[in-house]
Amino acid sequence: TDLPDDLLAPEAVADPAAVAAVLREHDPVHWSPTHRSWLLTRYDDIVAAFRNPALSSDRVRPVLARREGRGPSAEHRVLSLISDWMVVSDPPAHTRLRRLAGGAFKQQQIAAMGERIQALVDELVDAFLTTGPGDLVAGVAYPLPATVIAEMLGAPRADRDRFREWSDELALVAFGTGGEARADRHARALRGLEEMAAYFRDLVADRRRDPAGDMLSAMIAGESTGPGDEEGLTDDELVGMCALLLFAGHETTTNAIANAVRLLTADPALRDRVAADPDLVAPAVEEALRLQGPIKVLVRWVVADHDLRGRTIRAGERVQLVLPGANRDPERFRDPDVLDLHRERNQHLAFGRGIHACIGAQLARLETRHAVGTVLRRLPGLRVTAEPDWIPTLASRAAGSLPVTFDAAPV
Ligand code: HEM
Repeated sequence: TDLPDDLLAPEAVADPAAVAAVLREHDPVHWSPTHRSWLLTRYDDIVAAFRNPALSSDRVRPVLARREGRGPSAEHRVLSLISDWMVVSDPPAHTRLRRLAGGAFKQQQIAAMGERIQALVDELVDAFLTTGPGDLVAGVAYPLPATVIAEMLGAPRADRDRFREWSDELALVAFGTGGEARADRHARALRGLEEMAAYFRDLVADRRRDPAGDMLSAMIAGESTGPGDEEGLTDDELVGMCALLLFAGHETTTNAIANAVRLLTADPALRDRVAADPDLVAPAVEEALRLQGPIKVLVRWVVADHDLRGRTIRAGERVQLVLPGANRDPERFRDPDVLDLHRERNQHLAFGRGIHACIGAQLARLETRHAVGTVLRRLPGLRVTAEPDWIPTLASRAAGSLPVTFDAAPV
């Protein structure tokens, strides 16, 4: 079929849900010559894909194996660190990594971070207020999650700016960020990531000697509380885990905050309702995650032939799970394009499903709710002053900036 299926075409970058809707309606299991991939857009198909062992997440190790012959290099060392990430592992390796990381994401511990996150948000908003109206991404949405992750890992405050740089460099190297990366940027990013690895290696050594109350210490302690004779995380795996938390938890949360603010301020009446009622912040954020989730596409590799809606999906092919399709599927959500603060059972897929479902979802929600609730409350009449500059990547729904203005706050 010659349906428009280029998710990187300007109109699809501007409105991915519209392209996904056409595919979902006319060809829900679509072979895309543009992406050389199957595009799945229906809610039920994507949920089934998350649970289908014929679809593998293990996609960095094969790249590494192909480069094995070329000898040691910065790229090899960085890819090797990334290939240990649970998000690009299948069971049984994934099962072990996820269990050992679990100690750092205990519900009570995350919930206890609420106050600290609120304090960090207030600090950023204070600074934003003194510099006057500007870019809410640079002022709040971008710095918050990197600071939270640095703090969770127990990094000294002075080092936190480097976390933001490393996060960008990881995005560049891990997923090519749209392929526009120039060679010199790539080389610079690799050098930065080698510094990052050395930094995390020191941090790991430090916490092994001297455990603290942070998540890194909890992941190290995971080994002694692990069931049976399971081996704990190695130093390399711990270094990889720090990098993964930074990579997986930074840009996604930045975009969750920015996309939610954009969506909620587009309608002044809605904005003022949510600003006035703290109980509405959580459902508003869930609707923003459903309608404008930070992740557009998740990738899987087919490892066994199987049929889906009469198509044969073959081993070696690639499948892309198009989340804006699932999250607005009328078979699953009534009035799917409407932001409904009272939507029941809002089981959107912004955080995925199945064994890889986001391990940081509780933390991400906490950050997003505190950030969104606070900016709506403290910046009255908040409105966005420019069209979004959506970044043309497949993986994320991300704007480069969020220029805003607001009414002078009462002194
Ligand atoms: C996995 C979304 C924030 C850590 C995932 C997945 C999604 C997702 C869709 C599944 C990937 C897949 O199936 O291939 C999001 C969104 C976030 C967010 C939308 C922000 C709103 C965070 C945060 C952290 C985090 C704050 C931690 C600090 C992870 C990790 C995985 C993951 C470690 C891999 C889990 C596994 O493979 O078992 N996330 N995430 N995420 N996320 Fe998040």
